[in-house]
Amino acid sequence: MERKKIVAGNWKMNMTPAKTVELIATLKPLVESIDVDVVFCVPAIDIVPAITATRGTNIAIGAENMYFEESGAYTGEISPEMLVDAGVKYVILGHSERREYFHETDEELNKKVKKAFEHSLTPILCCGETLEQREMGITLDWIRMQIKSVLVDVPASDVAKMVIAYEPIWAIGTGVTATSEQAEEVCKAIRECIAEIYDEDTAKSVRIQYGGSVNAGNAKELFSQPNIDGGLVGGASLKPEFGKIVNYK
Ligand code: PGA
Repeated sequence: MERKKIVAGNWKMNMTPAKTVELIATLKPLVESIDVDVVFCVPAIDIVPAITATRGTNIAIGAENMYFEESGAYTGEISPEMLVDAGVKYVILGHSERREYFHETDEELNKKVKKAFEHSLTPILCCGETLEQREMGITLDWIRMQIKSVLVDVPASDVAKMVIAYEPIWAIGTGVTATSEQAEEVCKAIRECIAEIYDEDTAKSVRIQYGGSVNAGNAKELFSQPNIDGGLVGGASLKPEFGKIVNYK
């Protein structure tokens, strides 16, 4: 079965609850699609208004982070149960900004991925290399290490349902996009890595996105690569341009 494309917006730390309602009203008619799964990953405080504003549409709401405990004394954190109760379907885990500024490790991400699946949330697991790592020629080794460490003891049946986002750090928010060859090379290597740890069926099912300065001009070329199943979009997800990215064909 062919993999369905998935285009997710990563709003990062943008949009108040009031602006969330306005932006969704603008984007809603622009992102209608039956060929592509559409997800808006929004700040925690915007989740409830976003769920209300997207009811009855093809838009699923995602969170940008989640903690790996059920509940308790973890001031400032959001639990999987809270997300599920609010109507959230996806959760971005391990974005490079969280790894860099908030020191998230692969070990913690492994716990988060398992916890998300326990609650039937679909993780959008991010990985990616720095420019320095790319120039050193260790991109594929680095990505394989990230994937393998985060997926320790995650069963194939879960991996088959997850989304992995390859986001080269040097392409995020910089306007410098990876070429479709560069993006395809790494996305293919991720799929081969999944086949190696699990099996061919799991590798064929897992959806792999590209992220990093995706825009209306480069989406088609990127998303047409055999191993790229859509994108994780930052800056352009806050604009009407996102509608063009979803309808990239
Ligand atoms: P960008 O961000 O599209 O603004 O480069 C992508 C991301 O960080 O997910």
